[in-house]
Amino acid sequence: MQLRLDKYLADMGIGTRSQVKQYIRREQVKVNGLLPQGPQQKVNPEEDEITFQGKKVCYLEYEYFMLNKPNGCVSAVTDLRHRTVIDLITQKNRRDLFPVGRLDLDTEGLLLITNDGSLTHELLAPGKHVPKTYYAKVEGRVTDEDVRKFAQGLDIGENKPVLPAELHILSDETEPSSEKIISEIELTITEGKFHQVKRMFEAVGKRVVYLKRVSMGTLKLDESLQPGTYRRLTEAEVNLLKTSHKQ
Ligand code: URA
Repeated sequence: MQLRLDKYLADMGIGTRSQVKQYIRREQVKVNGLLPQGPQQKVNPEEDEITFQGKKVCYLEYEYFMLNKPNGCVSAVTDLRHRTVIDLITQKNRRDLFPVGRLDLDTEGLLLITNDGSLTHELLAPGKHVPKTYYAKVEGRVTDEDVRKFAQGLDIGENKPVLPAELHILSDETEPSSEKIISEIELTITEGKFHQVKRMFEAVGKRVVYLKRVSMGTLKLDESLQPGTYRRLTEAEVNLLKTSHKQ
């Protein structure tokens, strides 16, 4: 694989494209022990030894992070008004990371952050039906009748009903402060329609007041991650994701 030297260094997080051009001009970068001809020089990161300020620049083609997305943070790469999920990943090498899918601004929980486009396709393509499980608090008493309706496939105002979904009622309690009944549930869906979980509860006359994603395919949220924190996926987690969702 041949890449421009300046792009390679920027992708590896050495600096912005213009910063790395300066480093090259100031002779702070070497390719196989020699000064490069310029930022446009082609390098093969798997074969060439590239150093910056005397230290080897390690080649990382893909990075994978599990983020516990906090409320108030937007699932995008850049945003003018809100902090983005990419802003939260401070210990990264690659500059081309993106979130795999979207969670609403107020939804918390599991979000995979990577630059691996083909894995992203395997996880998000509509025909793949990768299961996603959510924990939610819902205003009102969620009933067995709701469980039956969710299992049949609800009409949420799309062209056709959503696919059958598995709803489990965990508990219901009366909130002492407001006397309102709050149900705790877990719901597994196999599509990713806009606001899907909230709209499914609206279709049975109820309102989601808290939503958190706990799993996506084989990947489970590490419950030791506080909202706003993240960790790299283990090699086993990456391999399992790659092999389980290929069709
Ligand atoms: N369903 C929703 O309504 N919101 C999300 O963020 C994810 C699924």
